[in-house]
Amino acid sequence: MIGFIGLGIMGSRMAGRLLAHGHALIVHNRSQEKAEPLLNQGARWAASPKEVAEHADIVFTMLANPKAVETVAIGENGFLDHLAEGSLWVDMSTVDPSFSRRMAQEAGKRKVRFLDAPVAGSKIPAEKGELVFHVGGKAEDLEEVRPLLECMGRAVHHQGEVGSGTAMKIVINLMLAQSMAAFAEAVTLGEALGFDKAHVVDTLLGGATAAPFLRGKRDKIVNGDFEPEFPLEHMQKDLQLVAQTAFEQNVALPLANAGKELYALAKQKGYRGQDFSAIYQFLKDR
Ligand SMILES: NC(=O)c1ccc[n+]([C@@H]2O[C@H](COP(=O)([O-])OP(=O)(O)OC[C@H]3O[C@@H](n4cnc5c(N)ncnc54)[C@H](OP(=O)(O)O)[C@@H]3O)[C@@H](O)[C@H]2O)c1
Repeated sequence: MIGFIGLGIMGSRMAGRLLAHGHALIVHNRSQEKAEPLLNQGARWAASPKEVAEHADIVFTMLANPKAVETVAIGENGFLDHLAEGSLWVDMSTVDPSFSRRMAQEAGKRKVRFLDAPVAGSKIPAEKGELVFHVGGKAEDLEEVRPLLECMGRAVHHQGEVGSGTAMKIVINLMLAQSMAAFAEAVTLGEALGFDKAHVVDTLLGGATAAPFLRGKRDKIVNGDFEPEFPLEHMQKDLQLVAQTAFEQNVALPLANAGKELYALAKQKGYRGQDFSAIYQFLKDR
């Protein structure tokens, strides 16, 4: 049986894809109510991560941050001590490469195999099974789960050894965060200069300077509706992971650190649960 832990915005939809493809699933989430729709579709409930491990030989995790992953894996009633030898843990959460390597070591101590397999793509691609996986770990372990990843994603890229999936993911999210913030500043300036908001947004989107993903943020900015697809607090977390990793690599990232603090301010001012495109609203409201 397949275990799935972490049924937030992304995990609930990804687990739903596995169920829709006919896979038997045992699921757990810190808040049980988020599991209800999946239980109604036939998933089995586990009262703890430990209980997931007692019934599964592959466990997927899709959790908020490194602390959440560590708690669920090796905290009280964590799953890792209870998985059978030879089982496979696939962590799809966005964490930093050093953390992935540490979790791989923890898994290895218990003779459990490990892949880091974070995803690019948000709520809608998760719903449609159109995510892109960046995977670190052994090629043969990836081949074993590839058919499952293909239920959830349209592409699976093997980036190399353990930690290289999360390494590529934070490189991507550095661009995502900065492109969003730069766009938000440009729109803010355009409006201050007297242009209508929709006109500035559409002019930018029609030119060569806007990143393609920004088209999906158009209506949020124009209508001022920031219902989360990718919560702003996770974007700030990802920039924190970028900064930490850059320090470990002795690389200077001046813009990333400025961006990290911009998102941190927005988080403190109440935008944490909104979509990260609310960075625009934060700039407007200041
Ligand atoms: N949303 C996106 O567009 C997107 C895209 C790519 C990657 N990601 C990454 O995917 C991961 C999940 O994102 P999401 O958008 O699904 O986030 P989310 O909706 O906030 O879900 C977070 C999940 O982590 C659990 N969690 C948080 N802290 C925990 C703790 N201390 N112990 C146990 N469980 C804990 C939550 O449980 P509760 O339900 O009990 O709070 C929930 O299941 C994150 O690493 C994010 O950066 C997100």
